[in-house]
Amino acid sequence: MSSFASYPSLKDRAVFVSGGGSGIGASIVEHFAAQGAKVGFVDIDEAASKALGVKIAAAGHPAPMFAKCDVRDIAAYQAAIVGMAARLGPFTALINNAARDDRHSLEEVTPAYWDERIAVNLRHQFFAIQTIAPGMKKAGGGSIVNFSSVSYHTMTANLAVYQAAKAAVIGMTRGLARDLGPDHIRLNSITPGWIMTRRQIDLWLTPEAEAGLMQAQCLKEKLYPPDIARMALWLAADDSRLVTAQNFVVDGGRM
Ligand SMILES: NC(=O)c1ccc[n+]([C@@H]2O[C@H](COP(=O)([O-])OP(=O)(O)OC[C@H]3O[C@@H](n4cnc5c(N)ncnc54)[C@H](O)[C@@H]3O)[C@@H](O)[C@H]2O)c1
Repeated sequence: MSSFASYPSLKDRAVFVSGGGSGIGASIVEHFAAQGAKVGFVDIDEAASKALGVKIAAAGHPAPMFAKCDVRDIAAYQAAIVGMAARLGPFTALINNAARDDRHSLEEVTPAYWDERIAVNLRHQFFAIQTIAPGMKKAGGGSIVNFSSVSYHTMTANLAVYQAAKAAVIGMTRGLARDLGPDHIRLNSITPGWIMTRRQIDLWLTPEAEAGLMQAQCLKEKLYPPDIARMALWLAADDSRLVTAQNFVVDGGRM
């Protein structure tokens, strides 16, 4: 038996997740499905996303609905969300998770590259909210969780456009929390620390980097996607019903 919480309010709730095919997003999709939620998600990685659906169904949970979609294409993205809501019911939880942390030097960034980085790390979050909020309003409220990042606090090198986008997520979350609060739509952000996804392990986890991380964290343990997914569950559930305009840092207490 799991020692983690079950949330009765998440059963049968329609939940939308962006970038749910791998990494933290896949863990979020799995965790919501395990709570009995009706999950819809998009990703560009069709193979990983389909495999995830098979894994979840094999575990006896409701299979998530998947659509291949690039969140940089706002018209296609909005159409995918509307199509899924027509089948699953209005989404009353939205997890704005998709992102990509490619590195670049100051000199390399062109205006087109800047726009592309902002499109994958910030712009789609706003337009997903714009698309989903009217259904939430009609349903009597909802919860929106936007993903920020610890990287602008830690001043990670060669990541400035991503850091600009992830800092903006916090401002957008607080502004829209004011606008949508009267409709009982809550907005919060999660700031993950360094989370051991496949991509992070393959690209960046050297023995030196791990030693530095353990030095910097109060809790001497690496964090994994379920550590973040459980925070998303709580924020989407009625247990956090009067929590809005806040940022939740899940980083093991990092300097
Ligand atoms: N892993 C970390 O250490 C860490 C740290 C801080 C913040 N975060 C944030 O957590 C969230 C999840 O990060 P992650 O580490 O799981 O990332 P990841 O790169 O492992 O997974 C991202 C997912 O989004 C999908 N995706 C990427 N571009 C897309 C696009 N254009 N359209 C649709 N889907 C797309 C990918 O295919 C992938 O499935 C992100 O918002 C990220 O910024 C992660």
